Formats: sequence, C-alpha cells, structure tokens
Amino acid sequence: MARVDQFRIPTRISFGRGVALTLAEPLKQVRAERVLVVTDPGVIKAGLLGPIEERLRDAKIAYEVYDAVVPDPGWREVQRCFERAREYGAQALVAVGGGSSIDTAKMAGVLLTNGGTALDYVGADKVPLPAAPVIAIPTTAGTGAELTINSVIADREHHKKLVIISPNATALFALEDPEMTRSLPPFLTAITGMDTLVHAIESFCSKNAYRLTELLALEAIRDVGRSLAASVKDGSDMEAREAMLRAVVTASLAFSNTRLGNVHAMALPLGGWCHVAHGTAVAVLLPHVMDFNRSAAEDRLAAVGEAIGAGSDGKAAVSFVHRLNETIGIPARLGPLGVSADVIPSMAADAMLSGNILVNPRTTTRADVEALYRTAL
Ligand SMILES: [Fe+2]
Repeated sequence: MARVDQFRIPTRISFGRGVALTLAEPLKQVRAERVLVVTDPGVIKAGLLGPIEERLRDAKIAYEVYDAVVPDPGWREVQRCFERAREYGAQALVAVGGGSSIDTAKMAGVLLTNGGTALDYVGADKVPLPAAPVIAIPTTAGTGAELTINSVIADREHHKKLVIISPNATALFALEDPEMTRSLPPFLTAITGMDTLVHAIESFCSKNAYRLTELLALEAIRDVGRSLAASVKDGSDMEAREAMLRAVVTASLAFSNTRLGNVHAMALPLGGWCHVAHGTAVAVLLPHVMDFNRSAAEDRLAAVGEAIGAGSDGKAAVSFVHRLNETIGIPARLGPLGVSADVIPSMAADAMLSGNILVNPRTTTRADVEALYRTAL
C-alpha cells in the first residue's frame, strides 16, 4: 500500500493574550460544576492563580486547589492527585503550570475514568477510555504537554522515565495565553524554549516527516530563531513571548505526528539516571546530535539553518545552536550537570529502547549513542 500520512489533533486549542481567563467556557461546555485545579507552589507565588480562581468563582464553578505537583512526578504523585480529585468529586481538572502540572493532571484524568495506577498505561495506546476533561493552561512556552499525546512519569527505583502515549491521555482544551508566561524566569524560559526548538528540529528531520509536519516544524524553528534570545533577555517582551508560545503549538502539532529523534531518546535516561532537567538535557545534546546527523540529512539541516537564521548550511546551523545555548545561559557540557562517564553504558542501553531512535534520520547504533554521550560530556 502507498504511504498514508495521518494527522491527529486531539486537543481544542485557543491562542491569544488573556485567553486563560476564559476557562469557564470550556468547563461549561463539558458541564463541569466541580473542578480540581492542579498546580505547583511556584505558580501560586508568581500570582498566576488568583485571576483564574476569580473567574471560577464568578462562574459559580466549585473548585479546590491541589498545589502539590512536584517536578518530574512519579506514579505515586499522580496517584495522590487522582485520589484528591476523586475524593472531591471533581468532574474536570484545570492544570495551571509547566509540563509536570499538565502531565499530572492528564494522568489523574486517565485514572478518574480508567482506574488503576499510571503504571498500568505505560507504552503506546494502552488507555482504553478517554480521560476526564482536562483544561490545560501552560505557564511555560516549552514542553507542549498541553497538546501532546505523551505523558512522562518518573520511575525513580529503576532510574527510568516512563512514557504513556495515547490519544485518550490528552488535555481536551489548551488555553495558550502568552500573558501566563510573562513572569517565567530567564533560565526556565531558556530551557523550555530549547525544548520547543528540539521538538521542531527533530520532527523536521525525522524519517516520519511529511509536508504538513515539515511546514509546522519550520515555522516553529523560525519563531524560536527570532524570539527565544529576546524572551530570555526581557521576559516582558510580549511579542517574543507570543512567538515562543506559537512555536510550542506548531512544534507540538508537528512532533505529535512524527515522533522525535536521538536527542529525546538520549535525554530521558539523563533525567532518569542523573536527574538532569529535560530542557537542559535536550539543549546540551541538540548540537551534537545535529552534527552526527549531518552525513545523512545535510539538506534537512541546511533548511533548519535557513529557518533559524544561520544561512542555508548544516554546519552553520550546528554552530548557531551552540551559540544560542551560550547566549541564553545553558551549560555547554553534561559533566558539570552531574553526569559521569560510568553511567553512559546504562543510559545508552535505555536510550536504545526508545522508538525515537528508529525515526532519527541517521541510523544509530548503541556505540553511536555512547559516543554521542561522551562527546557531550
Ligand atoms: Fe521535549
């Protein structure tokens, strides 16, 4: 049979300044009268929750705030959030925060309708019933958790990050509001923005890419090339903030339909074994993997260079990314982040299990992955 390209968009997306404050509308659409707001203490401290709560009160929607989301949540943290939602009788979840809050809410939503624990749903297409409605309001321009069918949970006992991939484990609504990212500190702006860039570049170069995903990925690369450094330098530059959030949308739509590549395959073990934050891990690895891919995907990387503003040349694209990391304050190497050479074989073994290796443009062996970790060390 000829190749068939499928494009999935499970989430309804609203984009614009102030759109977070319209959250009562989607809640009314799903007839939710009791909701659990899932967030973390940083969001509350930044003053982002007050206006949201006000809108819920105005709309006479009963709510409770669950603010115990931790970075890199494990299945037990997801369970705690789910139990709180069940005890409260929540009919929907409102996630306000970064990828950890949104993934916690997505998985708690899955447990509300499917029961069990998050561990029961690890892998692809293992969630039988659609999650309870989740309205996701991101406060970072980065992970794309509000739009993707992936949720990541940490398995600390086995040093692994587990991925749940299912169109039933998504947010039903994403309210993409650049104003909600205004107070994000520079370093978090930098690493979440680099995550978006990696999503776009890996999707564009993926063996699964096709015209529709390529267009979206290239547009995301353009937006990041023009706006990431500006949004790190001056968080109140709302044009830059808006472009970065738009890049999250285009990159997420692209990679949800193509998967990623070696950078993401290698970044999850860095989180599992060495607790390197996802955005930092992907940012440090990106130029090394791009350089590795040049022999198989020079044309693709030249197009990346063109879109990012480096000129139509793969090598220039690699140099541009090295410089961008330096400009926005991301470490150049993994060593200073607590990664040591002795864990490389274990990390490489885990990376090879990722489906992302298979769609990387250059065929990659375990020895290649070990060499890439060493180069980045
Ligand atoms: Fe990522």
